[in-house]
This record gives sequence, C-alpha cells and structure tokens, in this order.
Amino acid sequence: MSGESLDFFQSDQVADKPQRYTLLVRLAAYLKPYWLQISGLLALMTLGAFLEVLPATFTVLIIESITRNGNTASLMPLVLSFFGIILAGMLVTFIRYIVLAWVGRNAMLDLRSELFRHLMTRSTYFFHHNPVGRLMTRVTSDVQNLNEMFSSGFVAILGDFLSLLAIVIWMYTKHAGMATVALAIMPFLLVATEIFRRKAGHAFRETQGRYAAIQSFVQEQISGMPLVQVNAQENESRHKFRELNNSYLSAFLRTILAYSIFFPVVEFLTSATLAALIWYASLKLELGLVDFALLIAFIQLTGRFFRPIRELAERYNIMQTALASSERIFKLLDNQDMIPNGHLAEDPNFQKDISFENIDFAYDGYGKSGRTIIQNFSGKIPKGSRIAVVGHTGAGKSTLINLLMRFYDVNNGKITLDGQDIRHFDLKKLRAMFGLVLQDVFVFSGTLLENVVLDHPVDEVRLKEVLQQSQLSILVDRLPKGLQTQVGERGQKMSAGERQLLAFARMLYQNPDILLLDEATANIDSETEHRIQEVIATISRRMTTFTIAHRLSTIRDADEIWVLDQGVIIERGTHQDLLAKDGHYAMLVRLQFSVDAA
Ligand SMILES: Nc1ncnc2c1ncn2[C@@H]1O[C@H](COP(=O)(O)OP(=O)(O)O)[C@@H](O)[C@H]1O
Ligand SMILES: [Mg+2]
Repeated sequence: MSGESLDFFQSDQVADKPQRYTLLVRLAAYLKPYWLQISGLLALMTLGAFLEVLPATFTVLIIESITRNGNTASLMPLVLSFFGIILAGMLVTFIRYIVLAWVGRNAMLDLRSELFRHLMTRSTYFFHHNPVGRLMTRVTSDVQNLNEMFSSGFVAILGDFLSLLAIVIWMYTKHAGMATVALAIMPFLLVATEIFRRKAGHAFRETQGRYAAIQSFVQEQISGMPLVQVNAQENESRHKFRELNNSYLSAFLRTILAYSIFFPVVEFLTSATLAALIWYASLKLELGLVDFALLIAFIQLTGRFFRPIRELAERYNIMQTALASSERIFKLLDNQDMIPNGHLAEDPNFQKDISFENIDFAYDGYGKSGRTIIQNFSGKIPKGSRIAVVGHTGAGKSTLINLLMRFYDVNNGKITLDGQDIRHFDLKKLRAMFGLVLQDVFVFSGTLLENVVLDHPVDEVRLKEVLQQSQLSILVDRLPKGLQTQVGERGQKMSAGERQLLAFARMLYQNPDILLLDEATANIDSETEHRIQEVIATISRRMTTFTIAHRLSTIRDADEIWVLDQGVIIERGTHQDLLAKDGHYAMLVRLQFSVDAA
C-alpha cells in the first residue's frame, strides 16, 4: 500500500466524543439558514409518527366492529378512514423526502461553494503539499457523505425515534402486559446491534478508505498516463490497481459478512418476539383479558418496531463516516496557508523601480531545518529596463519570480515597489501588474478566445492588436474556426510552441506593467523560438522585462544580466561587461556556443 492510501486510512479515523460534539455543532451552523424548513420537517415527522400508530387503532376498531355487531354497513366509514390514514402517511413521507432532499442539497451546495472559495485563496505552498486527489475528495465525496448523513442518518434517526416512541406509548396505553412482552426482546436486540455496529463499522470504514485509495490511484494514473506508457509501466500499474481492488474487495466482503449474520439474527429475534406475544396473548385470551383485535394490532406494530432498530446500526455507520468526512472538511477549511492580503489604500502604480532588498528565503522556513534558497539577495529592476537572470538549474531563478508574484513571501528583507513593501499592496492588484509567461503554459479547456481574454471583457480592437503582436494570428488564420476553436483539455490540441504564443497573447491582453519570462522559449522548435524572440524584442521596447534565460543568445542586449549561483548574485553587468570580465558568465557563453556550434 502506498503512503498516500495509508494516509487515507489514517485520516478516516473518527474523532473523540467531545470533538464529535463540536463537529456536530459546527455542522448545524450550515443548517441555520434553513431553520424554517427544518421546523416544518420536525412537524412532519411528529405527524408521521402519529400516523404510524393510527392504523393500529383502526385495526382494533374494525375487527371489534366485525366481531361484536357483525354490521358491515357501519364498517365502511372505518375502512375508508383506514385507507385515508395510509394515504396521508404516504403523503407525509413524500413531502418529508422532498423537503429533506431540498434542505440537504442546499446546505451541501453552500458548504461546497465555501470549500471551493477557500481553495482558491490557498497559497502555492498549500497546493504543493496537498495532492490533487485528496483535495478533490474533500469537495466531492466528503461533502456527499455529509449529505448522506443528513438525509438518511441524522434526520432519519430522529424520525425513527419518534415512531418508536409513538409505538411504545400506544402499546402501553392499550395493554401494559403485552407491551412489556413485546419490548422484552429489546436488550437482546440492542446487544446484537452493538456487536454488529462494531464489527461492521470497522469494516465499513476500511472499505471507504480503500475506495478512496482506488480513486486517488486512478486519478494519478490517468493524469500521468503518457508517462506510464512511455516507461512501459502498464503491467506494474495494472498489478498495483488489482492489489488495491482486492484489498477493497476483502474489506467489502467483511462488511457483507457482518450484515449477513446480523440480519438473520434480527429476523430470529423478531419471530421469537411474535411467538412470545402470541403465547402470552393466548393465555390472556382465555381469561378474556385481551381480545383478538388487540393481538392483531400488536402483531402489526411489533413488525414496525423492529425495522428502525435494524436500520439503526447502518445509520450509525453513516453518521460515523460523515463525521470523519466533516472532520476532514473542517480541517481543510481551517487551513491557514494563505498569502495575507495587504491593506494599503493606494493601488500599486509602477513609476520608478522594483527592488529586492537583502532578502532571505527558504521554502520550508528560513533558519529552520529547511534549505536556504535565496541568501541576502539584493537587486533593482528600474522601470523600462530589461533585466535578465542566468544560472544553473536550481540556482533559485524561478524562486525570484515566485517571490515577486507573492506566491511565497520572503523570510527576511523585503521586495519593494517604488519604495513600498509589496506585502502592503492589495494582492490581486499587485499580481495584475505582472504578466507571467512560463515554460509550461496552462491552457483551460474551452475556446482559444476564452484562453486569451480569460475573465476580461472582449475588446475586438485590442484583441486584434494583441494577436498581431504575439503572432498568434498566424495560427488563428490557419484554423477553420479561428478563435472559436476548442483547444481540448489543457490545450492538448496545441503544440508547445502554439501554447507559448497563446501565453504571450494572454499576457499582452492583460496589459501588465512588467513582463516576467521564465525560460519561456526552452522547449520549442527554433522557428517558433525565433518568432517569439521577435515578439519579446518588440514588447520589451515598451515594457519592463524580467527574463530568466535559457539561451544566452536571447539576452545579449539586456540592460543588466544577473548571474545567480545558489541564491546569490555572483556577477552582474551587461553582456559586454561580463564577457570582458571573463568570469562565470563568459564561461557559460563559451559552453553554449560550443554546444550550438556542434
Ligand atoms: N515548492 C518548492 N518547495 C521546496 N523546494 C523548492 C520548491 N521549488 C523549488 N525548490 C527548490 O529551490 C531551489 C531553486 O529552485 P528554482 O528557483 O526553481 O531554480 P531555477 O534556478 O532552476 O529556476 C531548487 O533546489 C529546488 O529544488
Ligand atoms: Mg526555473
């Protein structure tokens, strides 16, 4: 079993009692907006419980009227009322289901929306530390479990309880002796239920955990399928999948075993109760203490009595599962990994420069056990300038962009915009200043147009301009459907180069102040690259650019080149300066020149 699936088992543990209470209180808050419907529901359930015992009364009346006066004419109204009650009971059940489903769905919709909103404000750190599959489960099946608890757990238990109460009261008011006989079986039933609950509950939770493991495995495999196929891992994956399925099946079979023992036992206890009841009543019948009608009514109600108790164990399991789900959901909702918003009233307005001032940064917290990535780093990006960063893989280049965009915050020092700490600005407005083009372009499923404009309004003139500048128009003109072309999930239908052009168009349409390029041309053919270089050259004439360069040929005319090594600038200057210096940069250039020449 992989670590991930093990984790699923562990996170499925149910909270202690006091915590359980807090969970329920917190859950109840989601029902608050629907208090009116819920009050109606309670009234309906009380009415339902009443309607549950009323037929017994009528059974007595009908049989008595037959046996005493044999007058069938007076029977008619009684029989009709009997049917009326049954119909009313059905109607109440119907309305109850509808209201219940409606309230449940709405409350869950609220919760799901809250979860999604919460997810959207999490930090990059958070997403790096939480697998997609697990987050998906929170929003989908965990919320579904809660809905289940609401519709067939919690409310149903309350409804059952009211019905049982009505039946017990009815029995005792009619005949205390028979009622006691009927209820004598209760302790046995409760013990049997408790044993079942423990056995089945454990297997049930294990089944759920293993099911979750299957889900997350499939999710991961599907997203990585090309990799699986390229590395000929199919056999191994199939094997692993079968293993997961088998372990799920064995847990599932254990649940079934518990059920298949429990149900016959309950069946037996029910029959034993009926036998005892009939035996007891026959003694009393002879003495004339009980009449036949009452016996039939008791038999009728005893049957109803056992059904809810039999279901109680199952409902309890549903509750347990739902509580575990709610615990996980609340844990996610309580997660504090977010980049705090700034509270400065004025918006960022880039006039002079952006500057890194003695910053330190480590992904796992500076000065802790984590590795320091950026150390005492300083540098200035003046408005209108072209700054390029070069260095080995892992030198910390992309990290600088992460810090500028506030995907992460610096641990020491500060990054300033015209002297103001960027942490003081509104986060959204700060990020809107930057146009980020990465090596991997994320494409949303939808049309090309939607992918360019994102959530900005469509401005035809501007769009045309942007398509021209980014040279995406060459692609668009070739497509029969033009901008309305569906790009497929994650833009599968586009080549890497086309996606790159799209990223430029998207960035230009957003009209940022500063262009951030992270090895944007690393994995495309040289023709497209040449085209993109042209685009960049045009753009950078009027826009501040911060480029992480893979090919050194592309940054020859940068105003300043920073050579980064292990989070420290070891050289800086123009291309000419650095060549003249004959240091690290000059060596990199020679290296690449020999590669390119080869
Ligand atoms: N999200 C992350 N969590 C932890 N370490 C990271 C993370 N991203 C990058 N690193 C580490 O930080 C170092 C610098 O990474 P990066 O800035 O991406 O380098 P590059 O110069 O190649 O762009 C690398 O050693 C990398 O392993
Ligand atoms: Mg990088």
